[in-house]
Amino acid sequence: MFSESVRCLVVVGAQWGDEGKGKLVDVLAEQATIVARYQGGANAGHTVRVEDDEFILHLIPSGILYRKTRCLLGNGVVVDPWNLVDEMDSLRARGVDLDGRLGLSKRAHLVLPYHRALDQAHEVNRDAEKKIGTTGRGIGPAYRDKVARVGVRVGDLADMGRASDLVEAGCGAANPTLERLAAEPVDPEAVMMGLEEVRPTLLGLATDTGHEVRSGLAAGGRVLLEGAQGALLDIDHGTYPFVTSSTTTAGGAAAGVGIGPTLIDEVLGVVKAYTTRVGNGPLPTELDGDEAERLRQLGGEFGATTGRPRRPGWFDANVVRYAAGVNGLTSLAVTKLDVLDTFAEMRLATGYELDGEPVGPFPDSVDDLDRVTPVYAEHQGWQSDTTGCRSWDDLPSQARQYLRRLEAESTVPIRYVSIGAARAETIKISAGGVSALH
Ligand code: IMP
Repeated sequence: MFSESVRCLVVVGAQWGDEGKGKLVDVLAEQATIVARYQGGANAGHTVRVEDDEFILHLIPSGILYRKTRCLLGNGVVVDPWNLVDEMDSLRARGVDLDGRLGLSKRAHLVLPYHRALDQAHEVNRDAEKKIGTTGRGIGPAYRDKVARVGVRVGDLADMGRASDLVEAGCGAANPTLERLAAEPVDPEAVMMGLEEVRPTLLGLATDTGHEVRSGLAAGGRVLLEGAQGALLDIDHGTYPFVTSSTTTAGGAAAGVGIGPTLIDEVLGVVKAYTTRVGNGPLPTELDGDEAERLRQLGGEFGATTGRPRRPGWFDANVVRYAAGVNGLTSLAVTKLDVLDTFAEMRLATGYELDGEPVGPFPDSVDDLDRVTPVYAEHQGWQSDTTGCRSWDDLPSQARQYLRRLEAESTVPIRYVSIGAARAETIKISAGGVSALH
């Protein structure tokens, strides 16, 4: 992927998150000098397997597991300072050297205890059909404060008087709502005491991520911008209001790290060979009953952040075509193909119908998306173990056929097929995608 001409690559989720971006970023980070997150916060959960060790990262980019890579949290990320410090401690405890390898934008906003409390209290108090099913990590309220221009930024910790005024005002605004929602108010002094403890670590990491990325590229380095969540959870392009509060699509990468879009060379979309969603909102190809349970168990489909069971469904090419458009995808990575190994047959949605009519552009309304009927292509399964396959030719012919159809319907060339969590369990495909292969 990092061919000679590719200096800056964005990796995004092209479904509803949990596509396996962490693994792909880990594989690609070997060639990167910088890996940067540009949005989201500790709502993300990126699972990376290195030999027999499994790491679940929430804030720190997956590139941290290579010794040479510099990892950045861009201005577009919202950072829970205590989460970050815990994550750093647990990586260090497992022998990962972080010295000089981690940078945090001075412009990034902090997620503070009142954001978390508001997120959780709002969710509890929403009527069942209106619950978003957030991760409860304070993401929405933190972005709301950012946009309302009352947030606390990493750089504000350089002046604790200023930080204290902001925290005081933040608690002042949050507490009446918390009390109305029957939740505990947040004590600004306790927040400041907590911030005093983490302040030296945060200020020690503080940097200008845009400047670092621009200079890194100018010096001939390679940069990987790591998205969190997925296109269908994007605040503008996702299944609003059942979305997260940031721009998860590739357009957000430039703004969220501090570079211009002209510096981005390629956008890799990561998709599972089927679909999952965690949290509420429409999922047209959703399965239920035994088939759903089978896919959930075989795929280990439980949230990396909250442990919640994910909702499984068949691969939906409508979703991926749409994600290709809103992200400008130049290539695709298909993960978890091996999870389908034992299925005698599978389905792949190629279109939607609404009230008996074909649906044109991807619906903007969740009510319509709830009512669409997927049009399916049926596929015979390959019923053999693909985890040992290391090349396109090793894959069973039915699996190759499935991937060809998936590529044709998604309209984006496949460049990677993942058949297991380990780094080696990754098949690289040449530039033309699988349609150019036998
Ligand atoms: P929030 O980001 O915690 O506000 O949650 C909003 C929606 O995004 C909920 O449906 C969450 O389940 C979903 N979500 C947030 N982060 C992730 C993720 O990393 N993977 C999958 N879903 C996510």
